[in-house]
Amino acid sequence: MIDLKLFKKFIERVDKIDTEQIKIFLNDFYCNISNFLRVLDFNNEGFIIFDTEGIVKYANITAAEVLKFETPEELIDKSIQEVIYNKDIKYYLINKIKKQEPIIEEEHIMGVPHIRVMRTNLIPIRDNTNKVILFLFRFVDITRKKMEEIKNRRQDNIESMKHLASGLAHEIKNPLASITIHLDLILRYISKLEIENIKKDIYEIVNILKDEVQRLNSIVQDFLSSIRPISLDLTKVDIIELIKDVIKFLSYELEEKKITIEFSPEDNLPPVLGDQKYLRVVFLNLIKNAMEAFDNVKRDKKLITIKMFENHPYIEIIIKDNGKGIEPKNIEKIFTPYFTTKETGNGIGLTLVHKIISEHHGNIRVESEVNVGTTFYIILPSYKGESKKYLP
Ligand SMILES: Nc1ncnc2c1ncn2[C@@H]1O[C@H](COP(=O)(O)OP(=O)(O)OP(=O)(O)O)[C@@H](O)[C@H]1O
Ligand SMILES: [Mg+2]
Repeated sequence: MIDLKLFKKFIERVDKIDTEQIKIFLNDFYCNISNFLRVLDFNNEGFIIFDTEGIVKYANITAAEVLKFETPEELIDKSIQEVIYNKDIKYYLINKIKKQEPIIEEEHIMGVPHIRVMRTNLIPIRDNTNKVILFLFRFVDITRKKMEEIKNRRQDNIESMKHLASGLAHEIKNPLASITIHLDLILRYISKLEIENIKKDIYEIVNILKDEVQRLNSIVQDFLSSIRPISLDLTKVDIIELIKDVIKFLSYELEEKKITIEFSPEDNLPPVLGDQKYLRVVFLNLIKNAMEAFDNVKRDKKLITIKMFENHPYIEIIIKDNGKGIEPKNIEKIFTPYFTTKETGNGIGLTLVHKIISEHHGNIRVESEVNVGTTFYIILPSYKGESKKYLP
């Protein structure tokens, strides 16, 4: 401990004490001060002492680390200008010191090279005459806490939105079912009607209504399946056959739109460990999106290429189109629910794709250039090696 009373007494009597004793006392005092400063060094708070001109008189190790100096000594006798890089806090601090005002528990961005959020305090230190002689600047890194807070808040929002929306979707499902039943009833009554012309018109109208109900129903279904946790039935999936099957399913539309698909899987590919039904949804959506990327686009050859190879312990699938591409500002949004740039799109396809791939412990990423095309890279665990342990 630094005993200031003793120190004062010592100063008062210094001319009566012999040199040897003075040496011992000062040495003692030096040790105590060093220990005290060491305590400050091993604190997770940064400490800097400025004089009234804003010149550093002391800094601890944490402060040097945050400000990217090798040692605290390097900060000594430097000005605020020279030690703090972040403009906002730098000028704020200079101003506060000039006005001799404190900073109390304020959050500021500080530190290099990464942005860090600091809780800061500036305490003016006064002498006996109440004159400010020094400033203690204390700061502690609260970046992680801040990030957690933001993440939690976002997650809470998402969860309550999901809850609300799924309730709503359920409420919509019941009247939809009832409308369908009543439309069928109307159709049955009409069939008994005599007047052929009117009958035809009503048939048409009711069928349009039925189609619309069907469309609403599939929106609700898609939405519910995109937010519900899915439970996978993992088996050995022949992914080549699965993709061939999806292409066959789309062949009519592909021919109509004059789109060529080149599918070239590597030889001897192991199967995928996955859920056949959900994986079909993945590839159907990705290929449909690739096809829709040619809408209103002129190309000599509208081409979708699908490549597949082993990337142990995964199978990598690359789906590339030379369609319209995705604008950079939209790239981040494509996997979020309801994001669509299409007149009749629901914006659910890629949300579902992302969810299914994540549940398979796989990954999907996208690269795209406007007017050049889009490439999706997917990895899914292969059915061999370490993946086997997931199987019953
Ligand atoms: N291959 C692609 N080329 C260009 N844009 C794409 C491609 N794939 C996705 N997108 C963009 O991402 C958006 C979201 O795709 P997503 O499949 O989720 O919804 P959607 O296709 O619009 O509607 P749906 O729910 O019917 O699939 C699309 O509207 C489109 O703007
Ligand atoms: Mg889609």
